[in-house]
Amino acid sequence: MKTRIQILLKDKPIGSTVSVAGWIRTRRDTGDFSFLEVNDGSCLANIQVIASQELKNYTSEVRQLTTGCSVSIRGELKESPAKGQDVEIHAAEVVVVGQADPETYPLQKKRHSLEFLRELCHLRPRTNALGAVARVRSRLSYGVHQFFHEKGFLQVHTPIITTSDCEGAGEMFQVGSSSENGKEQHFFGRSAGLTVSGQLQAEVYALSLGDVYTFGPTFRAENSNTSRHLAEFWMVEPEMPFCDLKGNMQIAEMLLKYLLEDVMNNCAEDLNLFDKFIEKGLLSKLSGVVDNKFAHATYTDAVDILSKAEKMFEFPVEWGVDLQSEHERYLAEEVFNCPLIVTDYPAVIKPFYMRVNDGGKTVAAMDILLPGIGEIAGGSQREERLEVLKSRMVEAQIDIEEYNWYLDLRRYGTAPHSGFGLGFERLVQFVTGMKNIREVIPFPRTPGSAPC
Ligand code: 4AD
Ligand code: MG
Repeated sequence: MKTRIQILLKDKPIGSTVSVAGWIRTRRDTGDFSFLEVNDGSCLANIQVIASQELKNYTSEVRQLTTGCSVSIRGELKESPAKGQDVEIHAAEVVVVGQADPETYPLQKKRHSLEFLRELCHLRPRTNALGAVARVRSRLSYGVHQFFHEKGFLQVHTPIITTSDCEGAGEMFQVGSSSENGKEQHFFGRSAGLTVSGQLQAEVYALSLGDVYTFGPTFRAENSNTSRHLAEFWMVEPEMPFCDLKGNMQIAEMLLKYLLEDVMNNCAEDLNLFDKFIEKGLLSKLSGVVDNKFAHATYTDAVDILSKAEKMFEFPVEWGVDLQSEHERYLAEEVFNCPLIVTDYPAVIKPFYMRVNDGGKTVAAMDILLPGIGEIAGGSQREERLEVLKSRMVEAQIDIEEYNWYLDLRRYGTAPHSGFGLGFERLVQFVTGMKNIREVIPFPRTPGSAPC
């Protein structure tokens, strides 16, 4: 049985025989033995393997090993006299499983730029930085499920193929439609697309089962080539019945704090790497978010602050226009210098499902803005009043017939309910300090690019 290096380093069964398998990072030779640094991806640390000339394949194979070769090793775990590591393996057997031609293997010992590594999506997880991102991402995903299960939420698997454009922004990738002899054919009997959000279907389950969440891939055919947009990204979407905007804000703040605390407790080694090489001060930024209350401002307050700001913005601000990323970042970074929840946006710039506030000009919307990221989550209290919802849909030129199922939720046992969508990659960006979103998803899909 192979032991993952992470487990081995934790338990350190000194003197016992252990087996590990992984990839060679470096080989260093002395007179009659070699030091092999082996990494298996379970943690940042390598395990040092001492391979002596007693091994029968020492000259023929071990001494030929190069960066990237895969090996399987059996040997005795001993305390290490070397600095920076507690244990090492004295090999009784080194099996060379796969070669990696040093003439062509693209990952050399030196540090490569993140842009260069983006061209190598199939090999970049073998580097320290991208391996650490993958582990942090996995832990955050685990944390999401853990948080909601502890709080009694049910997970709902909402569909990837859908016939409703939740955000109404016309950004659905079409699927199942083709043209034959000039006639349009629809696989699903009508036009369908890839989901932009699982919210509407999550609402169905929330209004039957209570608190639910969905966490899956979402797709947007928006032509945004920025460091924060992907055409395929993952979203965490809780939906809570009998819950107003205030309750929604509380859950969102609790979730973010829980996830940051959990990842700091469980991925300390990887976060230290990011703090050192990617974003100086990352760890204190993360603890600052956990320890302090999020700020709150209404959209109207935010516009007021922005219009009095001395800073020159590329996009002018006035009541009624959507906030741009430059405004969001200015508010979170320069005015509040902490996470900020902006609520009560003008109805005209928000989707049909958001609950209309008294007076009719604004809706019970909320966006969460983080320093360095801007918007990380967006949500709202949902419109539970049938007639108000219908008139919002008419205004938005939505075909009411197609959304009869959604209106039924208001016809039969309607209840106030709320939810939000947390952009999972933006969260991973915030936690790792990665400037570009393409670094935090294994296989980024952006306009003009879909490697692997
Ligand atoms: O604000 P959005 O569009 O909200 C919704 O889709 C709601 N239906 C969610 C809900 O209430 N259940 O998207 C939510 C979040 C954004 O705040 C952002 O973090 C992320 O999803 N997001 C993207 N992340 C990466 N690439 C993109 N193109 C993104 N678009 C949105
Ligand atoms: Mg939004």
